[in-house]
Amino acid sequence: MVSKGRVFGGCVCSIVAMGAAAVGLSLMFPVIFAEASLSKNILVDWLMWSRSSDVTQNPLQHSLHVVEGEINSGGGHGMDGCQQQLKVYVYSFPRRFNFGMLNYTQVDLDMPWLDGEVPPPWPSDGFILEKQHNVEYWMMMDLLEDKFGDREVIRVHNPKQADLFFVPFFSSLCFYRFGLSMDPESEDKALQEEMVKLILESPHWKRSGGEDHIIPLHHPNAFRFGRHLLNASIFIVADFGRTFPQVSSLQKDVVAPYTHIIPTYDDDNPDDPFNSREMLLFFQGTLKRKDYGIVRTKLASIIQNQSGVHFEEGSTNETGLRQATVGMRNSKFCLDPAGDTPSSCRLFDAIVSHCVPVIISDKIELPFEDELDYTTFALFYSVEESLQPGWLLSQLRNVSQVQWLQMWNRLKEVSHHFEYQFPSKQNDAVNMIWKQLHKKVPAIKLKFHRKERQKIADWWNW
Ligand SMILES: *[C@@H]1O[C@H](CO)[C@@H](O)[C@H](O)[C@H]1NC(C)=O
Ligand SMILES: *[C@@H]1O[C@H](CO)[C@@H](O)[C@H](O)[C@H]1NC(C)=O
Ligand SMILES: *[C@@H]1O[C@H](CO)[C@@H](O)[C@H](O)[C@H]1NC(C)=O
Ligand SMILES: *[C@@H]1O[C@H](CO)[C@@H](O)[C@H](O)[C@H]1NC(C)=O
Ligand SMILES: *[C@@H]1O[C@H](CO)[C@@H](O)[C@H](O)[C@H]1NC(C)=O
Repeated sequence: MVSKGRVFGGCVCSIVAMGAAAVGLSLMFPVIFAEASLSKNILVDWLMWSRSSDVTQNPLQHSLHVVEGEINSGGGHGMDGCQQQLKVYVYSFPRRFNFGMLNYTQVDLDMPWLDGEVPPPWPSDGFILEKQHNVEYWMMMDLLEDKFGDREVIRVHNPKQADLFFVPFFSSLCFYRFGLSMDPESEDKALQEEMVKLILESPHWKRSGGEDHIIPLHHPNAFRFGRHLLNASIFIVADFGRTFPQVSSLQKDVVAPYTHIIPTYDDDNPDDPFNSREMLLFFQGTLKRKDYGIVRTKLASIIQNQSGVHFEEGSTNETGLRQATVGMRNSKFCLDPAGDTPSSCRLFDAIVSHCVPVIISDKIELPFEDELDYTTFALFYSVEESLQPGWLLSQLRNVSQVQWLQMWNRLKEVSHHFEYQFPSKQNDAVNMIWKQLHKKVPAIKLKFHRKERQKIADWWNW
């Protein structure tokens, strides 16, 4: 079997191993395999079973390892790099914490989402702001998809088999639905408190202390009354602008893309991409922002009304989005200054519009940065640099056509990593997030296994 060759380092092995395991197994069981029409699914099911069951009870374990060893020496993939799929257990919490928030007419809001039930689609109308932070929705959709395929993740129903535990709480949607008023007695807060209680009481949390739990809190205000109590867990975040390092950090958490609200530029194939984008620099958005966003007002005073620059106040209504779609597709560069927090959805809108992002945000953190070198398709300037009169535009005008085309081509190559969709595809946003989570598993297991057998207080300062 030919490896599908994942774009990035990751784990190619599972696919290669299955192909070679088929060969190995056919040697072991010539009768069964003689028919030659071996269904991949049967093999895959068998492998899944054999890998997820306790190895000591698995009589074929030795043969499997031999098979893998052979592949590894041939294919150059060490045993260590050859990982299984990430196994995730999904808590059965009432649906009012997740899909129920998308559909008020749901009847049994106290019932968990049942196997086989079709989840509601993400609403096609409105929900524009909510959509930016809906990674929680896509992760849950992907987990409920029980089909086996070339997927990074698989849902397990037996918690003993789980590498990680997913908390199905749509904390960002909860904020939009119930917390926007910032009323301290909001329904948002009540749901958060209830969620904290459910999690802390769970035996899985008690067993691990929460380090193997995944909690999406992408909106900067999501779960803000409860997240400090669950700070051992892996949070799925947009940035770290409104949390303390003891609560959320680059070491333990995963930075996930916003869901872009500008549609992807699919047929971006003009004869002369550089000159067909007539505008040099595009920005449309809220000019007055809090905290990190004050840079926007200052930038406006420097670059607004300069030739080749579109820099305007805009809103996220339909007209605004249509204008921004046209504007980004017609510009060589798209300005991405900090919003209220260091990150903003605009970066991802620019990427899928193949408009080279010009990032002006001193404390930004970016998704998948261990796999992606953003300097190959984006420009980074400090706030201080960007506010020197005339400087920023002269930098952009000085980027040659060849340099720009390289970045544009690279944008077209990477933009699929920022697509949320269902069913998910290889190396799309959700798939990349599972990969990030997968990489955290060995360290979590090491720590947990040590803790389990220790008789005295730990002698390392973790
Ligand atoms: C909302 O839930 C109700 C009751 O379960 C169902 O009949 C309806 O089709 C759902 N609507 C959507 C948009 O999923
Ligand atoms: C969680 O917060 C507590 C209290 O602030 C702190 O002692 C602990 O180190 C934090 N845990 C992590 C993983 O940051
Ligand atoms: C740009 O032009 C508009 C319209 O003439 C004006 O309102 C605005 O103040 C100008 N901005 C700057 C920074 O000069
Ligand atoms: C929608 O956005 C456009 C462009 O930003 C703006 O001119 C218009 O006033 C907005 N309309 C509404 C109804 O808010
Ligand atoms: C313009 O680009 C050239 C070549 O990349 C570089 O040598 C030069 O210093 C740049 N000029 C300015 C003003 O940045």
